[in-house]
Amino acid sequence: MHLLWGALAASASLPFSQAAVKNHTGNGFPNGRAAVPFPNVVYPGASVPYAVAGAKTNQTSPPSYPSPWGTGLGDWAEAYEKAIAFVSQLTLTEKVNLTTGVGWEGDKCVGNNGAIPRLAFNSMCMEDSPLGVRDTDFNSAFSAGVTTAATWDRQLIYQRGFDMGSEHRDKGVDVQLGPVVGPLGRAPEGGRNWEGFSDDPYLAGQAVMATVQGMQDAGIMACTKHFIGNEQEHFREPGEFDGVELPGYSSNVDDRTMHEMYLWPFADAIRAGTASIMCSYNQINNSYACQNSYTLNHLLKNELGFQGFVMSDWSAQHSGVSSALAGLDMTMPGDESFDSGTAYWGANLTIAVLNGTVPQWRLDDMCVRIMAGYYYVDRPNNMVPDAPNFSAWTTDTYGPYHWYANKDVTQINYHVDVQGNHAQGIRALAAAGTVLLKNNGALPLTGNERLTTVFGEDAGENGWGPNGCGDRGCDNGTLAMGWGSGTANFPYLITPQEAIKAEVRANNGNFESVTSSAAFNQMQALANRVGQPGVGGACIVFANSDSGEGYITVDHNEGDRNNLTLWNAGNHLIKTVADYCNNTIVVMHTVGPVLVDSFYDHPNVTAILWAGLPGQESGNSITDILYGKVNPGGKTPFTWGKTRASYGTDLLYMPNEGDAAPQLDFDAGIFTDYRGFDRRNETPIYEFGFGLSYTTFSYSNLQVQSHGITPYVPTTGNTPAAPTYGTVSNDTSDYLVPEGFDRVPVYIYPFLNSTSLNASSGDPMYGIDYTFPAGGYDSSAQPYLGAGSNVAPGGNQQLYDVIFTVTADITNTGSVVGDEVAQLYISLGGPSDYNAKVVLRGFDRITISPGATVTFSADITRRDLSNWDIDTQNWVINDYPKTVYVGTSSRKLYLSSPLDTSSSGSSNTTSSSMMSSASSYSTSTVWSAPVSSASTESAASTESAPWTASTPETTPWAASTESAPTWSAWSAASSGW
Ligand SMILES: *[C@@H]1O[C@H](CO)[C@@H](O)[C@H](O)[C@H]1NC(C)=O
Ligand SMILES: *[C@@H]1O[C@H](CO)[C@@H](O)[C@H](O)[C@H]1NC(C)=O
Ligand SMILES: *[C@@H]1O[C@H](CO)[C@@H](O)[C@H](O)[C@H]1NC(C)=O
Repeated sequence: MHLLWGALAASASLPFSQAAVKNHTGNGFPNGRAAVPFPNVVYPGASVPYAVAGAKTNQTSPPSYPSPWGTGLGDWAEAYEKAIAFVSQLTLTEKVNLTTGVGWEGDKCVGNNGAIPRLAFNSMCMEDSPLGVRDTDFNSAFSAGVTTAATWDRQLIYQRGFDMGSEHRDKGVDVQLGPVVGPLGRAPEGGRNWEGFSDDPYLAGQAVMATVQGMQDAGIMACTKHFIGNEQEHFREPGEFDGVELPGYSSNVDDRTMHEMYLWPFADAIRAGTASIMCSYNQINNSYACQNSYTLNHLLKNELGFQGFVMSDWSAQHSGVSSALAGLDMTMPGDESFDSGTAYWGANLTIAVLNGTVPQWRLDDMCVRIMAGYYYVDRPNNMVPDAPNFSAWTTDTYGPYHWYANKDVTQINYHVDVQGNHAQGIRALAAAGTVLLKNNGALPLTGNERLTTVFGEDAGENGWGPNGCGDRGCDNGTLAMGWGSGTANFPYLITPQEAIKAEVRANNGNFESVTSSAAFNQMQALANRVGQPGVGGACIVFANSDSGEGYITVDHNEGDRNNLTLWNAGNHLIKTVADYCNNTIVVMHTVGPVLVDSFYDHPNVTAILWAGLPGQESGNSITDILYGKVNPGGKTPFTWGKTRASYGTDLLYMPNEGDAAPQLDFDAGIFTDYRGFDRRNETPIYEFGFGLSYTTFSYSNLQVQSHGITPYVPTTGNTPAAPTYGTVSNDTSDYLVPEGFDRVPVYIYPFLNSTSLNASSGDPMYGIDYTFPAGGYDSSAQPYLGAGSNVAPGGNQQLYDVIFTVTADITNTGSVVGDEVAQLYISLGGPSDYNAKVVLRGFDRITISPGATVTFSADITRRDLSNWDIDTQNWVINDYPKTVYVGTSSRKLYLSSPLDTSSSGSSNTTSSSMMSSASSYSTSTVWSAPVSSASTESAASTESAPWTASTPETTPWAASTESAPTWSAWSAASSGW
């Protein structure tokens, strides 16, 4: 039995032994791998005709240094002014405090950085989750991301973000750890897919944008996560598997897939102004996400112009200097492993700046980015008394402020009710996100059914209470959220059983339910009664499928799902009822697709609903739908395939490279979910975007207005040189712990305990000969990337130019008012192994009265029409013929029109058939670590260290020529205090 340790387990399990990663053998992990460049690595410098599946075992991506310094692009300018003014007055240790957490359970939140008492600046509170305030009481439990996406309603999505942000604000949280667009959902088994929105990058991008805007409008910082390629739970962190210590898995992703799929929604989050981004546990192309200079420096900070700060996932940091140079800005929870009392940063970052292994400008940039996020959302005017007014570690009113150290007992929970009227919004959103998959006229129910019956454990209470399983780590009773850190406590949970019963009784009807899982005889008997002539009514069967975060295992599912079937013998349950009851209505609460082949076309199954993960108002929301108080308008945000194999992707459940890092090759490229089904001519049961209504709609009158294509100009010019703010004294005695300081045990501090840096480090490897990439220290002006921007975050701003506006008329041809989600897809043209048949590029949810016609309108931007060109390292509208479609799902595309993108000598259309090196594009726009110089570094160190300077981000140690400051100064501080 293996145990893979995940972060954020308050109580669920214990950390795996850190012995292996603490062992200074050579320059890497004991099980370290050589960086074997794959010849087809599709990153700058590579040249392949096009990347279909550039993901190969052991591939690496090139280094990218220096770490881009924030400059206050776009609407960040004012926040930068304030941040710079603030940071300029800080001492070195005060700056380090901003960057480093105090350690697991050190303070009241799931993460807290150090405070600056001299300026009465409190530590910041980082708190889960993407669906509500975790670890507290009198908060709301919102619908999960996947149900949110199923609404396809930007206004509802924004409002949920705003309401969640308000609750975090009112609890005194500074950073809400959400929303999620990583995992994106490469494979449906991925345990945390439900925390995110949709496996379609466009839908995920639209949803994350509205969510970030809503959250931050409430005055807290969003932390969009997990960056990037975080697509499964198995092996996500270094840990033991069957007695073998394994590094975290590597997501091997080619450049084009990275841009067109996994990076896409992060670009939208950045455009929306996300204050922070969390780097993930996994490796990407064999370099850990929190020290991967390519993903953090090149993609995130340079190409996308991210102005906020990068925060590590909990214990996802594996190096000190290397992670700093690679672009990490804040380490959480701050200690090396939970409550190790040691840290990569803290005192070691103080030492690293003093001995020059981390340049001052890099530390200053970390601090300015953190404080800019703080000012960008106007935190100073959104403070609440006693913040944070709760403790993540207990709901007891009194207890230790410093939980792990059991120190300073005081009032730590104020039990502030932050729910406002959010219940109404939660009920409305969950109903709006419910998808009607099948309806033979059974729905809506009239309320006059003689006998209404409900079946399945998923309809009822969790006998242990709605919060009876820590972090929802069980599947008892009705399922309203998955498990793990992405959860919140329920203030109450309305079950389907109680809500339907109340509805039936309001009409004086009869109601019975069987919710005991194994009571098949009783179910059969009850279903048989409904089926009797002269009785009649409805049999509503509830079934679910759960998943969550890898630190909790539920029914042998270690976070990721082991299969795509319904839990608790769901198929048998449905069949038992349907065989006797000719009006069997199936409701599924699932984290993603499940296999419905055994019952979807059963003649007695008259209706099927997917109710997702609805949150606290579950029963009310489904009752609103069942009885037609709300006309269903949700659309499935993923494909329902016939078999597990029909998805064409899967997870890695067993290590595949011995004791080296498991290799998760993204060899489906862009062809996941509907893109893959379309390419393989695989007919799904319910296609992406599908969903029925109690009315019907017709589509007509497609119009395409062209706004013309202006020439696309790659960004040129240089950044300013790296600024520094304030001066750093070289007198190490300035950084000694103050006289009489009241130290919290096991806490991570920025102070030195000796004027000798070596002694203060306490690291036996201090001073080993290790060369960091020279580029990491280059503070000179750097060229902008052509795909980047010197104007605003989000990449080259011309990508967002509107090139076409498409309109279509949608008529409600039925007899009741209803919502239709009109969807716009584009065929980008070209070979079928290059572009997907169609990709989603627009949608709108519109309420239409019976008989009325409403005009759907959507803008198509340059980005929407482009492919990522690996040769020019930019987005290109190639000259493949393009077609726009408008319809009601990815396979019901009623209207179409060609899109003429060939117009007027515009430089963003290629004239050659493939994106062969169009000479008008600058290719020399990589930050100052061009491949050539990087490979010099690489060559130099390949001999001495398997880690190669070309991937110094894989160096686990904070080593340097001068210092190897791995251990906290405190770890050696047996003297003193
Ligand atoms: C460190 O590695 C050495 C050499 O492989 C080994 O002998 C030793 O047991 C390891 N120590 C720990 C704590 O893992
Ligand atoms: C990947 O790297 C590991 C560790 O160096 C090596 O054992 C393995 O053979 C490599 N696999 C491939 C397919 O190159
Ligand atoms: C750093 O933060 C800790 C914890 O909040 C605090 O005790 C300490 O005084 C801070 N150090 C400085 C230099 O402000």
